[in-house]
Amino acid sequence: PSIKSSLIEPDGGALVDLVVPENERGAKALEAESMSKVRLTKIDVEWVHVISEGWASPLRGFMRENEYLQSLHFNSLRMADGTVVNMSLPIVLAIDDKTKESIGSSKNVGLVAPDGDLIGILRSIEIYKHKKEERIARTWGTTAPGLPYVEECITSAGNWLIGGDLEEFDNRQADAVFAFQLRNPVHNGHALLMNDTRRRLLEMGYKNPILLLHPLGGFTKADDVPLDVRMEQHSKVLEDGVLDPKTTIVSIFPSPMHYAGPTEVQWHAKARINAGANFYIVGRDPAGMGHPTEKRDLYDPDHGKKVLSMAPGLEKLNILPFRVAAYDTVAKKMAFFDPSRSQDFLFISGTKMRTYARTGENPPDGFMCPGGWKVLVQYYESLQIE
Ligand code: ADX
Repeated sequence: PSIKSSLIEPDGGALVDLVVPENERGAKALEAESMSKVRLTKIDVEWVHVISEGWASPLRGFMRENEYLQSLHFNSLRMADGTVVNMSLPIVLAIDDKTKESIGSSKNVGLVAPDGDLIGILRSIEIYKHKKEERIARTWGTTAPGLPYVEECITSAGNWLIGGDLEEFDNRQADAVFAFQLRNPVHNGHALLMNDTRRRLLEMGYKNPILLLHPLGGFTKADDVPLDVRMEQHSKVLEDGVLDPKTTIVSIFPSPMHYAGPTEVQWHAKARINAGANFYIVGRDPAGMGHPTEKRDLYDPDHGKKVLSMAPGLEKLNILPFRVAAYDTVAKKMAFFDPSRSQDFLFISGTKMRTYARTGENPPDGFMCPGGWKVLVQYYESLQIE
């Protein structure tokens, strides 16, 4: 078979983007207020993001009946021009009898997230029967009990499906995006930097600053914590409320790591301009490591933030330099280091943290949230077994 050599076009020719432009959001949100409402589950909201960001191109909304039937029976959709695109999963929105009744003969409905926020509109709607047994049997090839998605989303879902064209308001509506590069698990010292930044941005008059928690996902050295473990640790940090999930976006920065200190931190910052950030946090010894042959830091721990604050071409990015954070044994929490009482502070290095996890000893209370710590302990335990 021949190998396709060029980049491929999105299905349908152009990528679907259903996020309502900033300047139209106010009017659309107002319009949606007056519509009948459909309450979404958490997973419905995930599908809203999937559709509006174009992952299901050329689909422009939740499936109407003809799209649903094609997907279910042909695993594909036929476009107006006759071309066929793959679509093996039905992407549908279920509603119950009461919601169907309340919609009546309305043409459009407003979509409401579980937290009560109005996040989108479904236009020119069509309501049709949700034949669950048929949907399950055709999608999974079995109706055996215990299918996780079925139990979570279908069994208890309503008896109707509602399709239509989707418009999503950007439910984040950030007026500032501040990026945090990291290659390590999040401890409460990191969180201090991020939460302090948010507080400062609010003080500066920003209404909705959003944190881009941006773990590096490429090559890291052997004794760093692997990406999958870090991702799990980061979700615990959000679950435990150390960082606020409502104002945080977690995404992976695919770059490999150089450990080139002040030289590399400029690359880390530059790339985040392209990710939409306008503020960049930098703390102690960014992209640093121990000297490969001597017992000392390879770089001066203050040079990274100094160099970044002067870096040519990065003037448009607001650099937010931070002092070093350490464990304050008097306050029993991570705090900015105060040189006037240096004896009160405990520096917990990566090596020290690994020793704690490996020996099963707990780090001092307030160093990291319990859920996040547990993920690390399990990881280091698994290393010992191998
Ligand atoms: S890095 O290689 O991605 O820079 P790391 O994940 O350790 O390493 O750090 C992420 C960010 O947090 C960097 O901006 C770094 O300067 C900062 N940082 C890490 N530890 C501390 C600390 N104890 N105090 C202040 N800033 C820190």
